Amino acid sequence: MRESTRMSLVQTPVIPVVGRLIRDNPGTISLGQGVVHYPPPPQAMEEVARFAAEPDNHKYRLVDGIPALLDRIRRKLASDNRIELTAEHSVVVTAGGNMAFMNAVLAVTDPGDEVILLAPYYFNHEMAVAMAGCRATVVATDESYQPVPERIAAAITPHTRAVVTVSPNTPTGAVYAETTLRAINDLCRDRGIYHIHDEAYEYFTYDGARHVSPASFGGSAAHTIALFSLSKSFGFASWRIGYMVIPTHLYGAVCKIQDTILICPPVVSQHAAVGAMGAGRAYCAAWLEGIAGVRRLVIEALAEIGDVCTVPRADGAFYVLATVRGGPQPMALVERLVREHHVAVIPGSTFGVTDRCTVRIAYGALTRDTAAEGIGRLVRGIRQIVGG
Ligand SMILES: Cc1ncc(COP(=O)(O)O)c(C=O)c1O
Repeated sequence: MRESTRMSLVQTPVIPVVGRLIRDNPGTISLGQGVVHYPPPPQAMEEVARFAAEPDNHKYRLVDGIPALLDRIRRKLASDNRIELTAEHSVVVTAGGNMAFMNAVLAVTDPGDEVILLAPYYFNHEMAVAMAGCRATVVATDESYQPVPERIAAAITPHTRAVVTVSPNTPTGAVYAETTLRAINDLCRDRGIYHIHDEAYEYFTYDGARHVSPASFGGSAAHTIALFSLSKSFGFASWRIGYMVIPTHLYGAVCKIQDTILICPPVVSQHAAVGAMGAGRAYCAAWLEGIAGVRRLVIEALAEIGDVCTVPRADGAFYVLATVRGGPQPMALVERLVREHHVAVIPGSTFGVTDRCTVRIAYGALTRDTAAEGIGRLVRGIRQIVGG
């Protein structure tokens, strides 16, 4: 007996591997996992109490989400994303942004098709494409981790079904300019393929950078799939709620997938999400000031070792992807950082960067105190390991 070839071709997620390293080395500060340090808003818990009082809430609910949450999402898409929903758009609640991506890939591809990912990519996107029996065509971004539309255009073949963009980006923290996103969205329309855009970090921008939703562009409805998540914005990672805006012609396919895998998104979490979205963007904004302070600390500390470590501009999410000049294999560097310096980061190889030593530094889970200690250890560790 053996696992399928399809699954054996899927990379092993690195987060649990680094998690084990951290457990084996007590006292390690993690700059690894992409989570925020704050809890969901109190309004979410109030909705959970109301959920419990209604016996019917324990039954299955609609496959695409409870009406109260769909209503909140539609209003948020109009106010925060300037997406004017029409009959051409449908909205589906999912069990998180990852599930929304899997839904999208299964809905638009056949086995053997190609999906364009920009490198560095989010590893679960690459894994989902492989699980669907498709091939990820990896297109490099430029030295600032910005997409190059001409390179994307050159990578499109008759088998290409979609281009995936993530902004603000993991693992780089790059925020894509509106002109770039428009160029990619227009390219997808002109070439008859989908533009899948992941907006999990939509509220996390700094220093005047502006998040833009391609689904708000005129003429984008029929080929644009927008993915959202409550995990980061509302400290909601374990509640597993996200949602997607899809062209209405994909609604039936997405509902088939979701009905088979999930039946309906967890209803208690959907009620909590109604409360969280009631608190809205202002809730995240209140925490963002602290995270911006931690970000400044991280950037300043890394600048001190600028001779061995380069970090392109990163105005979004809560990551930077640092290139360590003269570094060993990235996983070897991560192991030494944990064992010898008690600080954890994620190797860039897991995001498809294979030509040099890079590590992703995540700072959303840190407060100012842990940040100063954690980044201090990282800077000293890198300096010691690569010399200079
Ligand atoms: C770009 C991106 N999309 C989606 C997710 C996962 O979101 P969710 O928890 O909603 O599945 C992450 C988590 O790190 C992410 O970085």
